[in-house]
Amino acid sequence: MKGKMTIHHEFSIGEVDKRIYGSFIEHLGRAVYGGIYEPGHHESDERGFRKDVIGLVRELDVPIVRYPGGNFVSGYNWEDGVGPVEKRPVRQDLAWMALEPNQIGTNEFIEWTRRAGSEVMMAVNLGTRGPDAARNLVEYCNFPRGTAWSDLRRSHGCEAPHNIKLWCLGNEMDGPWQICRRTAAEYGRIAAEAAKVMKWADPSIELVACGSSNDQMPSFGNWESEVLDHVYDQVDYISLHLYFGNRDNDTPNFLGKSLEMDSFIRTVTGICDLAKAKRRSKKTVNLSFDEWNVWFHSKDADEKIEKWTVAPSQLEDIYTMEDALVAGCMLITLIKNADRVRVACLAQLVNVIAPIMTEKGGKAWRQSIFYPFMHASKYGRGTVLHCPATSEKYDSREYSDIPYLETVAVHDQTRDALTIFAVNRNLAEPMELEADIYGFAGYRFLEHIILHNPDIHAVNSPHGEKIKPIPSASGKLEGSRLDVSLPPASWNVIRLGK
Ligand code: AHR
Repeated sequence: MKGKMTIHHEFSIGEVDKRIYGSFIEHLGRAVYGGIYEPGHHESDERGFRKDVIGLVRELDVPIVRYPGGNFVSGYNWEDGVGPVEKRPVRQDLAWMALEPNQIGTNEFIEWTRRAGSEVMMAVNLGTRGPDAARNLVEYCNFPRGTAWSDLRRSHGCEAPHNIKLWCLGNEMDGPWQICRRTAAEYGRIAAEAAKVMKWADPSIELVACGSSNDQMPSFGNWESEVLDHVYDQVDYISLHLYFGNRDNDTPNFLGKSLEMDSFIRTVTGICDLAKAKRRSKKTVNLSFDEWNVWFHSKDADEKIEKWTVAPSQLEDIYTMEDALVAGCMLITLIKNADRVRVACLAQLVNVIAPIMTEKGGKAWRQSIFYPFMHASKYGRGTVLHCPATSEKYDSREYSDIPYLETVAVHDQTRDALTIFAVNRNLAEPMELEADIYGFAGYRFLEHIILHNPDIHAVNSPHGEKIKPIPSASGKLEGSRLDVSLPPASWNVIRLGK
């Protein structure tokens, strides 16, 4: 099977905002307790943060981490999580039917992100609470000193303001599962007022309004339009969330799912631009794809979980080779749309539908999806190039015209680096990829990294990695022609440089 692509250094889509390599930690399952935080573990530091987990997060180079939810945030009182730890209340978390001990809260989490080389993307509760609690949290986090909330922060040992720049106005407010779900009109109004007072408290912040919980919601489209009618002038981004599953074990169809992600992005972009046109605005609202991943393996097990325990093992999907390919296609889709998708969060980061898993008292280990994310985050920064690509196509149960080749190229001019990411969706045949590369005089072939396992259902575990990157000797660059062989069902990173 053959694939062709053309890469020209002047055909640019846009600059990658590094925040598209964000992730997410929710107070859910073992993400916080037993994930990033496990006092007494031999790898934990003096604050109880697992250094082995921090090491893996640093390998992924995650610039922002969304926190504290997710569904959790819609019932969260942020005040419960600050001040003396021994005085903090244990509360029922109605989102996940678990107990929240509040041992980790805003200040601890911000400290964790510093240690992990990251920053917080903070969500406020627009479910049970509203503008008042939201603007108080902005004042607590970002105001230097001399007000009740900023001085309370200082009395909690945080003298310097946290300066959190990116804030989410609630979470999935259209979902019937949300604590205090709202209609689009109700949400639009409260989000607009919360946004207004939050920006008055700190004009330097950026805000994300909730879009639909996914593209299959009955109100998808109308929700975005109506919400934007209320918040357009106040917000900077609208959110998109999407999880894919393969419950019926139809791999060709599963591998085509990123086409749906692409169409979701294009539709929401169109709705934002329609809202812009209607108000003759000069301002553009961009997209925050702040939850994306594969999520389905754990669904049956989660129904049997005992309620009202602390940090139960929830949403602990164990990812396969095919999941890594889907994650790779989703990453390529985000990169291709980098002109409008400015923020994206792999949901989530540790233990809960995550690239990083931990054993209680034991190891931290990398799931299959760890690697495409790591490669994209490490090599996918710079200018995204529009690269026309052709390959044979196939139809599946839900999608038609799925190209066997999914690919994009990113040029980092500051480092003289050109990286091609490519997935071969063909399960049986290798693909001989021929790329015509223009405007890269002096570049040479550096390496071709492959993620591949002939068993599409293979998984990693604490005992070993069946799915890990291996170098390939298949590539060659002669003049402006690059030839590489992509194994069947593989994720590929082809790196050129000076
Ligand atoms: O990431 C898990 C959950 O998925 C989040 O809490 C919620 O926002 C979404 O439904």
